[in-house]
Amino acid sequence: MTARITGLGTFLPAETVTNDDLARRMDTSDEWIRSRSGIGARRVGGRTAQMATAAAAEAMQQAGLTADQIDFLVLCTTTPEKTFPATSALVADALGLRCGAMDLNVVCAGFPYGYVTAYGLMLTPGGPERVLLVGSDAMSSIVDWDDRSTAILFGDGAGAAVLERHPSQGELLAADFGVNGELAPILYCDLGDKIKMEGREVFKRAVRAVSRSVEVTLEKAGLAPTDLDVVLPHQANMRIIEAMCDRIGIPLERTFNVIEQTGNTSSASIPLAMAAADRAGALAPDRLVLMAGFGAGLAWGSVVIRW
Ligand code: UT7
Repeated sequence: MTARITGLGTFLPAETVTNDDLARRMDTSDEWIRSRSGIGARRVGGRTAQMATAAAAEAMQQAGLTADQIDFLVLCTTTPEKTFPATSALVADALGLRCGAMDLNVVCAGFPYGYVTAYGLMLTPGGPERVLLVGSDAMSSIVDWDDRSTAILFGDGAGAAVLERHPSQGELLAADFGVNGELAPILYCDLGDKIKMEGREVFKRAVRAVSRSVEVTLEKAGLAPTDLDVVLPHQANMRIIEAMCDRIGIPLERTFNVIEQTGNTSSASIPLAMAAADRAGALAPDRLVLMAGFGAGLAWGSVVIRW
């Protein structure tokens, strides 16, 4: 048994904040932000549940499924609406689902973790046949809009995928996960507070961790970097993506990126990149697709699948 992705959906809130908008309220510039991060604009004003619901509804529509046909919901999010209930319960209600639903928080690395969680559930005897996997984050709600070292980076958005059991298509070939909790102090957000980050340190550690993780995953799968057809890296900084590709030997053209328009949308960034790859016609059966996530923890995770 395998589990292939049969529907994708995305949602970005309407309000756009450009680099020039930011430069009007803090000491920064479009040139600085673009050259250091590759970001040109980001969306703000989103709510996690509402964005997740919109993206999920689109993915279900693309898969041709109604609410009663979904057997499980996994919602990856860093910005839950409440301490409890889980935000997935609110999304399930909005979509009319009555199946199991759970939140999963591995911050920016969430989506690869969510993918293997969904896949593993589907392999469980009597487990779900169709899983809705969503990444949704309202990072603008936890950004300090007076802190130029973080305000330039983050944005809101959601991306969703429907996974369905299939006899052969959509094979998970290998994965690698890890966390180094000693590095929690370089990127964190206390309850009720705003994001704190040592950018340069995160940059260095992230490149190292995600590159190693991808190498381990490729080794487990018996693949060379150039075998990969589609690479979906976490969208934190274009320079991190370039450094990762350079280190591993992945041609940069194989990566699909949305960061210029979205900034770092945490759990949503990989499914947003996946939807971009789909729009470009890059996701065809048998293509080798890599997802590579990293973020606060420091946590990392990479997965390679045969589409
Ligand atoms: O999902 C994971 C989440 N986080 C990340 O992946 C973030 C990883 N880190 C980064 O992306 C980068 O470190 C940043 C984009 C945040 C910063 O780029 P950098 O090249 O590492 O810059 P820096 O922090 O070393 O700062 C260089 C200079 C400093 O000035 P001095 O000390 O050289 O005079 C900063 O004060 O740039 C200054 N600076 C800015 N200048 C204009 C910092 N932020 C800004 C800004 N505009 N927004």
